[in-house]
Amino acid sequence: MVLRIPSGLESTLRGYDLIPDTIGRSGDGVYRLEAACRPTLFLKVSERTHENRLVAEAHRMAWLSSVGILAPRILHIVETIDQHWLVMECLPGANAVLSTESPAVKVQQVAKALADLHSLPPADCPFDETLAIKLERAKQNIRAGEVDVEDFDHDHRGMTAPELYCAMESLQPEHEDIVVAHGDASLPNFMLDGGAFSGFVDCGRLGRSDRYQDLSLACHSIEYSLGADWVAPFLRLYGLATVDEQKLRFYRMLDEFF
Ligand SMILES: Nc1ncnc2c1ncn2[C@@H]1O[C@H](COP(=O)(O)OP(=O)(O)OP(=O)(O)O)[C@@H](O)[C@H]1O
Ligand SMILES: [Mg+2]
Repeated sequence: MVLRIPSGLESTLRGYDLIPDTIGRSGDGVYRLEAACRPTLFLKVSERTHENRLVAEAHRMAWLSSVGILAPRILHIVETIDQHWLVMECLPGANAVLSTESPAVKVQQVAKALADLHSLPPADCPFDETLAIKLERAKQNIRAGEVDVEDFDHDHRGMTAPELYCAMESLQPEHEDIVVAHGDASLPNFMLDGGAFSGFVDCGRLGRSDRYQDLSLACHSIEYSLGADWVAPFLRLYGLATVDEQKLRFYRMLDEFF
């Protein structure tokens, strides 16, 4: 992606070094902005599409802060003819993969952050991420050829996108247990500082959704980064009495379409 600083951001960004952050997979550019004697900032740049994903992300982060959940303060959202630029405050610490805290601390902080988020009244959340909407988007992505089968998890490898969709439909839950969900609750999207949760990042899919949207992705990420033995302690700390294995599988399949 070619970066041409929009005129509206020239004075804000003058003197900053743009240091690429490469952990994400969406193709968005993520940069840490550093300058002597000035606050470190974060920048996300995406190609302009009909979805306006970064605008959606900025709205969601601003809403999270307004209801008392830790998330970066949005400083600027600028549209150019072909890109969106989102400049935000840098949260302290490191994400829950890169953090040097022990797995026990990571699991405890991630469980608490999600339990707190999920205890918000969903009726007050203006963003609809319920299943009907997600399934429609998944189908659109299949039709548009935007599903990356090369990126499927090992247990879905070798399937085409329509085949996986069909397999997923057979597991579709009858009931949605709606909470305010982050929507992409993998460990890199939780920030930790000094052993405590310091905020959510990557909030573009936050909204009213089943709690398993988050539990499923968090469990998968914990298994991948910390080991399978940490999944049960995570679910216990979150406060889940019984685990719905079918929903865990369903929401992990659904995530493959995004
Ligand atoms: N405001 C912020 N403060 C501190 N660190 C941040 C901030 N925003 C992003 N990061 C760091 O950059 C990493 C990548 O950012 P982010 O998760 O938003 O991008 P991504 O995963 O590429 O997103 P997408 O899903 O849009 O591709 C995060 O895991 C986190 O370590
Ligand atoms: Mg991310």
